Amino acid sequence: QPDELQSHFDETIARERRIEPRDWMPEAYRKTMIRQIAQHAHSEIIGMQPEGNWITRAPSLRRKAVLLAKVQDEAGHGMYLYSAAETLGADRADLTDRLVHGRQKYSSIFNYPTLSYADVGVIGWLVDGAAICNQVPLCRSSYGPYGRAMVRICKEESFHQRQGYELLMTMMRGTDSQRDMVQQAVDRFWWPALMMFGPPDDESPNTEQSMAWGVKRHTNDELRQRFVDMSVPQAEKLGVTFPDPDLRWNAERGHYDFGTPDWDEFWAVVKGNGPCNAQRVAHRKSAHDEGAWVREAALAHAAKSAGRR
Ligand code: ACO
Repeated sequence: QPDELQSHFDETIARERRIEPRDWMPEAYRKTMIRQIAQHAHSEIIGMQPEGNWITRAPSLRRKAVLLAKVQDEAGHGMYLYSAAETLGADRADLTDRLVHGRQKYSSIFNYPTLSYADVGVIGWLVDGAAICNQVPLCRSSYGPYGRAMVRICKEESFHQRQGYELLMTMMRGTDSQRDMVQQAVDRFWWPALMMFGPPDDESPNTEQSMAWGVKRHTNDELRQRFVDMSVPQAEKLGVTFPDPDLRWNAERGHYDFGTPDWDEFWAVVKGNGPCNAQRVAHRKSAHDEGAWVREAALAHAAKSAGRR
């Protein structure tokens, strides 16, 4: 009975139990989960590009090995998440098609260029740091395969964050120009990192329902505040500043006050008009097109092996 199914679903959510692939779920819940998981998967895959840009120019063999491993991890996260989306009935090829034709979103942060090697460190520290802040609570997300994927992804992200911070620590012990490079990278990435948490709560159309379903555990503004509070002492230890004149400790609130991100810039980037959107999507599309023969060969091989068996 539809009513019984709905009340079983509601009860599962109310008891903080998990929804699993074979369970009945409202169509809107399924749609929301596919939307969020697909956007997340696309972000991991597109997110390989800004840092991939520095693999051939890493300053030492050790740095190259670390960066290569990190970028490969992002690919793994993407694959893992596409699999989670498939458990909801989504088709991976269709999701990729939507991405390369600009019909599905990915995180705004990956539409900014990586201009110096310090950007690799800052992406590890701030971008992966923001990702962890956002994703640790998602380990308790109500959809089972997504929450479980998050556990593993967060472990790897915390390694990514530490490699970024360690890289920056090393540069800060270097020359004046290396220190300048780090500060400039921080100046460029600070505001876009804050935008990763999404629009302010009063302009976030999905938060209320996603919180009610236990898909999201905190609002965008709560997590943004948590990230600021976490990052300021790390910046002090590193010896860099954030480009925000309004950033100061508020003893009454027990949090840092901070300025307002440029939300016009955020929406422009989300709508496809950021500095690198066109380049990122074109690059993904050409990699996908050039990989067609590999997919065809793998399918032919699988069919042949199945025939032999
Ligand atoms: N970049 C691009 N689009 C964004 C961003 C962003 N930083 N923030 C919000 N949006 C989009 C939303 O996807 C939504 O669009 P849609 O309705 O067409 O899907 C719209 O802006 C309005 O935002 P919200 O109502 O706040 O959307 P939502 O409740 O889904 O919250 C959030 C957005 C916080 C990103 C959430 O989806 C989430 O936690 N996702 C999982 C984490 C994730 O995707 N991380 C990717 C980057 S980290 C990494 O890959 C290293």
